[in-house]
Amino acid sequence: MNMKLAVIPGDGIGPEVIRETLKVLDEVGKQYGHTFEYTKVLAGGCAIDVHGQCLPQETIDICKASDAVLLGAVGGWKWDNLPGNERPEMALLGLRKELGLFANLRPALLFEVLADACPLKAEIVEGGLDLVVVRELTGGIYFGEKGLKDTDLGPAAYDVEQYAEEEVRRIAEVAFDMAMKRSKKVASVDKANVLESSRLWRRIVAEVGERYPEVELNNLYIDNAAMQMVRNPKQFDVIVTSNIFGDILSDEASMITGSIGMLPSASLAKGNFGMYEPVHGSAPDIAGADMANPMATILSAAMMLRYTFGLGKEADAIEAAVKKVLADGHRTPDIAEEGETAIGTAKTGDLIAAAIKMA
Ligand code: IPM
Ligand code: MN
Repeated sequence: MNMKLAVIPGDGIGPEVIRETLKVLDEVGKQYGHTFEYTKVLAGGCAIDVHGQCLPQETIDICKASDAVLLGAVGGWKWDNLPGNERPEMALLGLRKELGLFANLRPALLFEVLADACPLKAEIVEGGLDLVVVRELTGGIYFGEKGLKDTDLGPAAYDVEQYAEEEVRRIAEVAFDMAMKRSKKVASVDKANVLESSRLWRRIVAEVGERYPEVELNNLYIDNAAMQMVRNPKQFDVIVTSNIFGDILSDEASMITGSIGMLPSASLAKGNFGMYEPVHGSAPDIAGADMANPMATILSAAMMLRYTFGLGKEADAIEAAVKKVLADGHRTPDIAEEGETAIGTAKTGDLIAAAIKMA
């Protein structure tokens, strides 16, 4: 298969983790007879420096003309003082909207060999943890009407949370489809005791659920869900929720795996198109120091092979190679324990590529 990828290295550690990911993909190509065609494009702070805007039209066009997008990370101190709507992070929101990436899958998987990194008591996560947050990504308060106005209490600002039935329906379908391939459990998270938009959310999710009689649907309020996530995270399998609740819950879920440097994500449009990126940010403090963990981006490439290209065997091979490198005791600084010698970003990529070759 020939795969056309738009590659956005971005800022901070983005270029390093992307470099290692392409190394791994090239090895997959060699072993399984595929070719990857990469077109590198700018987005984020580096695009601001070159073009004066974080998401140039050219980037959007090239992404649209590709089969999938691979992204490192955007943002950094250098651009922290720009006004809100000019910050590098706006490139992410623009890409999501322009590319129609309404479904964000954020798996939180506790790797057995890294179980000690989990901040929860061992008995709470015994037997492992494997859940996925399905976050709505192009609607809700992130994209609702916003503005400034005068009120009785003086100047005020507002952001509107709004969901159309169709927006809820399509994300619910993604969640139920995913549950059918996993343990047939969906937890839908909302704030239906207070918010009108949540009451619509809950009604539509239930409607979609009727088409999946085998799947057990639970509704939770966001406050309770946040609490349950640390009390008993193993109760969760597929969690479906709105843009803002998903933003918060997915960070919480990633923390309990103890290793944000390990977590991949997929943002999917209708059809097979998707953008794949690590959950972590650009970590400007360690940029260029060969300290970043490239595993989250490499695992994101595995998700890309699985979801956009239907290459399950190749995706499995990447995941197995990552596990092997961990099992062999290799750790970047973020996941190394005290006293352990850590390896660098490039070496990690080399080892994973080598493990693919051997498999
Ligand atoms: C994320 C990030 C983004 C979000 C920011 C950087 C705009 O936190 O992908 O979770 O809030 O969606
Ligand atoms: Mn976030």
